[in-house]
Amino acid sequence: MSETTVAVADTVKRALEAVDVSALRRAYWEQNEFVALERWLPAALVEPMVAEVDRVRPAINRNYIPRHKKGGSVSFYTLVERAPTIVAFYRSPAWIAFLSTLTGQPLQPCPPGDPHACALYFYTEPGDHIGFHFDTSYYRGARYTVLVGLVERSSSRLVCQLYKNVPGRTPEERALTTHPGTVILFNGDKLWHSITPLGEDEERVSLTLEYVTDPSMTPVKRFVSNMKDAIAYFGFRRVFLPSRSATRATQ
Ligand SMILES: [Fe+2]
Repeated sequence: MSETTVAVADTVKRALEAVDVSALRRAYWEQNEFVALERWLPAALVEPMVAEVDRVRPAINRNYIPRHKKGGSVSFYTLVERAPTIVAFYRSPAWIAFLSTLTGQPLQPCPPGDPHACALYFYTEPGDHIGFHFDTSYYRGARYTVLVGLVERSSSRLVCQLYKNVPGRTPEERALTTHPGTVILFNGDKLWHSITPLGEDEERVSLTLEYVTDPSMTPVKRFVSNMKDAIAYFGFRRVFLPSRSATRATQ
């Protein structure tokens, strides 16, 4: 186990000792499987993760899908090679146990062949945004998203519609600023969300961590998921030709 992995696991464990887990769990369920924790991660984790954001900038893949999204992404494969703190956080056993308690599900990281498992999203040019969507699960089980703010010098907002499609409930909208260290956890099939367009001379970078209850996927859904990731996020080379080090490091 690397020094970074041990240090990150230790920091996460200590940070979680101060948390009122049952209050958070209640808030998560009262809000239809959504909870936002503002400026919550300790600087000991945020600072090295922001340094890793800068290290992976040369690997940004930009995409533009008219009327849906515009922005840059860096896949899990690149993070495995160049962002040890982020990947150690993603896999930290205490963190996964905490998320499993909040969601009431035995969560696990996505399989190593999923470029979305843990990825960075860069909003760096005016108008960068993503339209409303669910983080739909292509897996056999449910998929949960953890969104972490890392760089926030923007007027963009994460707009969340809670209780969408819940019979008898009027949806509630929240517009959140994802400051460095802010953590948002939600069930991907339940939270309707978007990022509003970036202004001039602004920048926003967020990290997302995806966890699943069942890491298996039918071959057809795997193909659809890969095509979506290649076109909308990481590019064909990164999705269909992942480096050997990514595969090796995650076995
Ligand atoms: Fe999303």
